Amino acid sequence: MSKTILTLGAGPGIGLATAQRFAREGYAVVLAARDGKRLERQAAVLRTAGADVQSVALDVSDASAVSALIRDLGDRLDVLHYNAGILRYDAQGALQTHALEDLAERDLESDVRINITGALYAIRAAMPGMKARQRGTMLLTGGGLATHPAAELLTLSVGKAGLRTIAQALFQPLKASGVHIAVLDVATLVSPDSAQAHGVGEAFWQLHAQREQPVESWSWEARYS
Ligand SMILES: NC(=O)c1ccc[n+]([C@@H]2O[C@H](COP(=O)([O-])OP(=O)(O)OC[C@H]3O[C@@H](n4cnc5c(N)ncnc54)[C@H](OP(=O)(O)O)[C@@H]3O)[C@@H](O)[C@H]2O)c1
Repeated sequence: MSKTILTLGAGPGIGLATAQRFAREGYAVVLAARDGKRLERQAAVLRTAGADVQSVALDVSDASAVSALIRDLGDRLDVLHYNAGILRYDAQGALQTHALEDLAERDLESDVRINITGALYAIRAAMPGMKARQRGTMLLTGGGLATHPAAELLTLSVGKAGLRTIAQALFQPLKASGVHIAVLDVATLVSPDSAQAHGVGEAFWQLHAQREQPVESWSWEARYS
């Protein structure tokens, strides 16, 4: 049975680069995001390199879909990577920022569900199995906005601060059960298939690899800039 990494919010940037890094170590990969066609393109890239890949179309803010996927993976789930995060781009691909008063209620609710609540759903669903096995890693894609928030990117800033708090709060109790949780604060711009994307993938691998070291040397946070 192959050890599996599940990427929730799998896209062509950090999500794919991190999956590629784990696949190189022999991990099977499950990619999950809303757009099934785009997922299949990423799966094809991984399969070309010899990886065992499954893609699953789901929305991370759907608690039952997230729980069902984690339940289906059962003992195979070794690494959970929560990577979903909402940034808005215009038609030319430029990042769009918004003042709080310009965001509709439905955008605020949806942003918080994707940036934080989905992570809570996923961690809650994965925790019992990992604790019972006394083995598992939860990796969260954080951001520099966690500690240097921006008014014009407020829902993402709140989201990254939330992920950082989740890792900090759960680190000790999970460690006591042999399960590792860590957030990587990505504090630079990252494009798909760039040196930065692969650097982030490597940084996630190094956080996960701490599990082979004495627990005293594990850390709940690292920074990539
Ligand atoms: N890129 C950067 O410069 C940068 C810098 C710092 C931090 N980050 C963080 O890194 C993470 C990944 O960013 P990235 O730019 O590299 O993106 P990515 O890994 O290429 O893609 C992230 C994917 O998340 C998926 N997603 C969004 N909402 C979702 C939902 N409700 N349910 C399921 N999947 C969802 C999107 O796919 P679907 O639309 O198909 O669902 C998207 O393709 C984000 O958390 C981001 O905040 C990025």
